[in-house]
Amino acid sequence: METTRKLKDQIAIVTGASSGIGAGVAKALAAEGAKVVINYSSSPDKAEKVLEEIKATGGNGLTIKADVSNEKEVVEMFQQTISHFGTVDILVNNAGLQKDAKFHEMTLEQWNYVLGINLTGQFLCSREAIKEFLRRGVVPQRSKAAGKIVCMSSVHEVIPWAGHANYSASKGGVMMLMKTIAQEYAPMKIRVNSIGPGAIRTPINHAAWQTPDAYNQLLKLIPAKRIGEADDIGGAAVWLASDDSDYVNGITLFVDGGMLLYPGFEDNG
Ligand code: BGC
Repeated sequence: METTRKLKDQIAIVTGASSGIGAGVAKALAAEGAKVVINYSSSPDKAEKVLEEIKATGGNGLTIKADVSNEKEVVEMFQQTISHFGTVDILVNNAGLQKDAKFHEMTLEQWNYVLGINLTGQFLCSREAIKEFLRRGVVPQRSKAAGKIVCMSSVHEVIPWAGHANYSASKGGVMMLMKTIAQEYAPMKIRVNSIGPGAIRTPINHAAWQTPDAYNQLLKLIPAKRIGEADDIGGAAVWLASDDSDYVNGITLFVDGGMLLYPGFEDNG
């Protein structure tokens, strides 16, 4: 018996989907029947490869280049998606990066670059998505919601992180952006939630898992005693984007192997 796929015929945009968590989320949404726009900023080959993998398993999608911190490029990405697929049902605000520096040495450029992509990018993409959700309204055959937004946050929306002030500030900002628009648009049947990943094996943190020494250090922060994989986040994204979470508004779903359980207190305090 064929089970109904949870995101059948829905159109999803996943930003920063050419690698890491974004690529994992794009594949997970496609496996549940969504047509996925694989947004990328600088790696067309990697984005095409993600699309090929999706097509190889019977899925469908499109790659679109856009810098999420650039208003014009974001507006064009939504226009292109809507003219190709007709609408947008799901936005996964995933694009994000780190430019780490000691706070007293952090340049304004490093600060603005990270805030521009991690926070302003989520503002610009969410605004375009919500305009389209409001225009179209609910299509009951596809979803109970007029649209869903999943923001990629981090455990660092709550855990302070020395040497990463720009990144932590951006994720704290994402938390209040997410909650505020969740409150503002819930009455219009638009659901906005976040995923807060812990340490996931991706290029952003390769230094933390690359060598056995680094990996063992990292495990001290993770009660579940393993690093996360992109698939761990893919499953959470499918749930937040599907009607299975229809009564869930404005939460951060932490997927972190217990990083937020203060493992330093296991045998201390
Ligand atoms: C960061 C990773 C880090 C993880 C846990 C993420 O948000 O991007 O570099 O490993 O948080 O600290």
